[in-house]
Amino acid sequence: MSEFAELSLGDKRIQLPVITGTENEKAIDIAKLRDETGYITIDSGYKNTGATKSGITFLDGELGILRYRGYSIEELADKASFLEVAYLLIYGELPTAEQYAAFEKEIRTHTIVNEDMRKIFDGFPVNAHPMGVLSAMVCAMSAFYTGEKAGSDELNIIRLLAKMPTVATWSYKKSQGHPVNYPKNSLDYCSNFLQMMFALPVEEYKVNPVVSSALNKLLILHADHEQNCSTSTVRLVGSSHASLYASISAGINALSGPLHGGANQEVIEMLEAIKADGGDTDKFIAMAKDKNSGFRLMGFGHRVYKNFDPRAKIIKKAAYEVLASLGVQDPVLDIAKKLEEAALSDPYFVQRRLYPNVDFYSGIIYRALGIPTNMFTVMFAIGRLPGWIAQWKEMRVNKEPIGRPRQVYVGATPRDYVPMEQR
Ligand code: SDX
Repeated sequence: MSEFAELSLGDKRIQLPVITGTENEKAIDIAKLRDETGYITIDSGYKNTGATKSGITFLDGELGILRYRGYSIEELADKASFLEVAYLLIYGELPTAEQYAAFEKEIRTHTIVNEDMRKIFDGFPVNAHPMGVLSAMVCAMSAFYTGEKAGSDELNIIRLLAKMPTVATWSYKKSQGHPVNYPKNSLDYCSNFLQMMFALPVEEYKVNPVVSSALNKLLILHADHEQNCSTSTVRLVGSSHASLYASISAGINALSGPLHGGANQEVIEMLEAIKADGGDTDKFIAMAKDKNSGFRLMGFGHRVYKNFDPRAKIIKKAAYEVLASLGVQDPVLDIAKKLEEAALSDPYFVQRRLYPNVDFYSGIIYRALGIPTNMFTVMFAIGRLPGWIAQWKEMRVNKEPIGRPRQVYVGATPRDYVPMEQR
């Protein structure tokens, strides 16, 4: 039975259709609102506005549920490989053994990056932030690898999944003054990334299975998150039929912001500052509550999750396991735990339903894996890549229209030009 919302504007009354998703989410379809009433809606930050209907990821912010194509994040993080999850997000189903073998072989075939890209790369200063380098190099890929105009660009999907880790490690090696490493196709995706990051010509690099498995879990936990800022950016840029590389490069830039993916770097820098300041978490909690301090508890709060971020729960547990397994003592882990406990019992945070999000503990694991702080958001981008690709593909395959929001004009009303000498 069709459901409608009734809107009355002055003496006008219109009915707007209500759509219901497979998880019973409801939305009022306002497609005909402006034509029938001359009105638009406005919703700064799109806090209550749906941009699309998507079959990829489901979140329930109240219950702390996150599912990729119907599978729970808890099961996938525990049982799947990152490439399996990438396949699931992009193609809609978990791969059979045969499909997985073909997918992994395809990716291995494309891990090498065109050597001419090294010339672009070598032009960056040694202290360039890896997120800026990554977005520039991904955009440059559109000059080296032409896209398929129609359809969903399958070959470039494989190229991006295969080459982004290679390019991502280059910025780290450059910052260390070390020679870059090339992919070793005898290794799995995560192990290959680690050897490109940390191998040195002077000795045999052995991948620690604990590190590779922790990385696999972290990448899965970051793989998609429905219409977040960077994914919405990828969809909007892609809606103009810009190339997949241009769209993903835009997503990388959106993710780099400290309110979004850049928060994982900010969290560690905040925890380090608290440690350097003597570890007085109450002082920093007070600052976070003081609007004039300009300080926020980075890694806390979320637009959707209002009770807990299921990813944060998994990452917190993994942080303790990985550090114990690697025999790493990290004092900032204790500070993070103390900060979390203090915040979760403070009315300011409880009233605003602010909880640790995916970024609060992830940096502690990255650090234990030997990944430098300024590479944390690059790790987020590598994890999020299959989600961005899946969302871009869904938007293109569904032939969604170019995104072009409206506005309410609040500027100057008509006035005549005044010659400069009379102003
Ligand atoms: C990610 O969307 C996604 O799915 C994103 C993501 C993904 O996987 O793609 O989950 C990844 O981006 C996680 C978020 C990482 N960012 C941070 O950790 C930065 C710190 N958190 C915030 O700045 C904030 O919580 C946001 C950006 C995450 C959410 O912002 P909202 O929903 O716009 O909420 P808001 O800024 O309007 O805050 C509501 C209230 C305000 O106080 P009042 O005006 O009501 O008095 O809560 C306060 C804010 O001042 N507040 C905080 C706070 N976050 C919100 N106060 C102190 N510290 C914080 N961290």
